[in-house]
Amino acid sequence: MGNSPSVTLSAPKLALPTGFVWGTSTSSYQIEGAASEDGRGPSIWDTHCKLRGRVSNDDTGDVACDHYHRYRQDIQIMSDLGIQAYRFSLSWSRLMPRGRGSVNQKGLDFYDKLIDGLLQADIEPWICLFHWDFPQLLQDLGGWSNRDSVGWFADYAMLAARRYGDRVKHWATFNEQSVSTLFGYLWGISPPGATDRAGYFRVVHHENLAHGAAIEALRSTVHKAFLGVIHNRQAVYPERFDPAHQSAVEPMDAHWNKIFPDPQILGYYPETLAQDIEPFMRAGDLASICRPLDWFGLNHYSPIWARVEPNSTLGFQMGDFPKDMAHTEINWSIYPEAFKHELLELTRRYQLPVYVTENGCGSNQEKPDESGFVQDDHRINYISLYMQKMAEACQEGADVRGYFVWSLLDNFEWGAGYESRFGIVRVDFDTQKRTPKASAKWYADLMRINQ
Ligand code: FCB
Repeated sequence: MGNSPSVTLSAPKLALPTGFVWGTSTSSYQIEGAASEDGRGPSIWDTHCKLRGRVSNDDTGDVACDHYHRYRQDIQIMSDLGIQAYRFSLSWSRLMPRGRGSVNQKGLDFYDKLIDGLLQADIEPWICLFHWDFPQLLQDLGGWSNRDSVGWFADYAMLAARRYGDRVKHWATFNEQSVSTLFGYLWGISPPGATDRAGYFRVVHHENLAHGAAIEALRSTVHKAFLGVIHNRQAVYPERFDPAHQSAVEPMDAHWNKIFPDPQILGYYPETLAQDIEPFMRAGDLASICRPLDWFGLNHYSPIWARVEPNSTLGFQMGDFPKDMAHTEINWSIYPEAFKHELLELTRRYQLPVYVTENGCGSNQEKPDESGFVQDDHRINYISLYMQKMAEACQEGADVRGYFVWSLLDNFEWGAGYESRFGIVRVDFDTQKRTPKASAKWYADLMRINQ
């Protein structure tokens, strides 16, 4: 059991700005399933899951929450809870099985039906174009290492903008670029599993260019578009607050927090990294990356604890939190003060309205009763502590305009497979039965009280 501070279980009235948006978040590979159905092409996560030992229990997203077939029920669940906005991602390889060129009509139709269903239920769709499930056939051409990826992504963005832009106004280009590039191109943990320093910087730069190109495509196509990008940007502290690890803080902060948002929003790379990007930079690149944005999406769970690690490629690694610190059942530190700090810092640094596009609490110990119901007080505690800090941040000047809980459903949690559950709705992965947990009822109350 995680050691987490307790708060009251009734939903609080929070001092938040009027018009505050309440939502839930998911992503395509984590919930859709139907991995080889109706013409979907493979993504790098399909490939990765098939390599033995990479994902807990060798789980895969082949079926996941079967949302591809059960989306109507999932919309109904959101509607019953009173959810106002739903953030989801498109599967690039469902729309373009080879990642470029031919388009899959059935894939296009699926998101049409999802979007129309959401709108009918009065739920605002928020689309994220890329949540890590990069098309495998583009990976075979070098993936993000190939500068052509900028054009591939722009074409995909244009396809989505033309098809859905009449109904969808809220768009994000990428989800957590720093997490997917550090884990996938430097630390070798996520697909494609690379560990090459120069290769990592090349990918970073191309992904930055792809972001700018997608913003151009969306801006020129979607009337009244509200465009943003979603980053996992966190306060960074030395491991266990130990001053011996202080020198890992600045580089971790530059890589985790700044290497993407700084060029995208401020127009330059952090000074300490510019030299590493230089070999891949061409005239005009920074201007192409830095396109006007309307909002910043913050995904936040825990601060980053940085450790000096002379043997790792960049000389630092992710470290441990202080021993006596509260933590969730999956061992992520609970430190709501860092959330408040980050919301204030984001407002100051980037001067954009902030939407919390992910926050939530994972568990590998939840036990349902015979009806499938889970009394997840630990999750209610966590979310409620973080929300109090979010409200405090707003009172002190942070420009926070919305909150999307991660996640609507228990789902495929990347390397942890189905072991980590983040949903406010339980999914029984044997039967696909959905059962709202105590936290779902609490969240419904919260939204009603804080309209
Ligand atoms: C974030 C990811 C999301 C989910 C949560 C728990 O980093 O964006 O897909 O896995 O963590």
